[in-house]
This record gives sequence, structure tokens and C-alpha cells, in this order.
Amino acid sequence: MVSAWFMNEDKSVDQREPHQMDPPQPVQLEKLAELGVLYLKIESDDWDKDEALSKIRKERGYTYEDCITVSREKLPNYEEKLKVFFQEHIHDDEEIRLCTEGSGYFDVRDRDDRWIRIELNKGDMIILPAGIYHRFTLDTKNYIQARRYFVGDPVWTPINRPADEHVARKQYITNLQKA
Ligand code: LAC
Ligand code: NI
Repeated sequence: MVSAWFMNEDKSVDQREPHQMDPPQPVQLEKLAELGVLYLKIESDDWDKDEALSKIRKERGYTYEDCITVSREKLPNYEEKLKVFFQEHIHDDEEIRLCTEGSGYFDVRDRDDRWIRIELNKGDMIILPAGIYHRFTLDTKNYIQARRYFVGDPVWTPINRPADEHVARKQYITNLQKA
């Protein structure tokens, strides 16, 4: 099951640590769904044959797929990329990741601008809506492999905060108000 919690924002603690509150403040899937964040568990690790995964891909129109490994050995410009990933940003499109090995954290902002930390382990798939402020960090194990999906030609460009006037952000806020 996905694990998510409100973050302790103590900046003197390494970003890779869990940053749990004391006592912990867990966040339920329903709360994530209200923010437009979808979480799915893909039970099989035969990713190319998994029916639930092909169904999601078909339904959501994910025509593009690749695999990224975030580790010092495998990712060119590792340090620099990690900084970019952890800079709070939005995208014009959904961000879709399926963790196939290792682990990491996606942080998303809630309606009150509080950080929610979402832990991804093998078989965890996350879909972040366009326009949500978010960031990514490795955990202390420093390794994740993930499949990335996209509708059409992929655009990985982050639009860093502040992006409140950006069309995807405005649309996201409108959707939140309807939810
Ligand atoms: C990305 C993640 C790190 O944009 O949010 O690739
Ligand atoms: Ni992103």
C-alpha cells in the first residue's frame, strides 16, 4: 500500500530522510485523490505483460514509455539532475511514474500549501495531474528505477515555482475548486 504523510519541513535534515512529523501524520489515498493525485499498485512485476497496466495505458492514452534509473552510476549529471528534480515545479502535462526497482519520494502540495510526502516502492505507480506543485527526491538508499509514460511526444521540462499565472496551474486550481 502506498504510504504518504505530512512532512516535517526541518531544513537541517537531509531531503532523503523521511521527514515524518512527531507523531506521524499519515495521509490517506482519498486525500491524494482530492488533489488529483492517483496511486495504483501494479501487483505483477512482469511489466510488459501486466493487464491492469495495459488497461491504464490504453484508457489514459499513454503512447510513450521509457525507463529511467536515478543513481550515481546510471544517471548522467546525477547531482545536477537531483537538484532539478527537487526544485518545486509544475508541468503542462501529467507526470506518470511506475517504480520498478528501488524507492524514492514524490512530494506534492495540498490545498493549504503543505507538503505531502509520497513513498514509492516497487510496483507503485503515481499519476500527478498537470499543474500540481511537486518535487522528487531519492531516499537514503540512493536508487530508483522507474518507467515513465506520456501522452504523445514527451516533454520533461519543469516550470519552477512561482508559476501561478501559468495556464496549467490555473486549470489545476479550477479543477480543485470543482472537486
Ligand atoms: C520530474 C519529477 C522529478 O519532473 O518531478 O521528472
Ligand atoms: Ni515533475
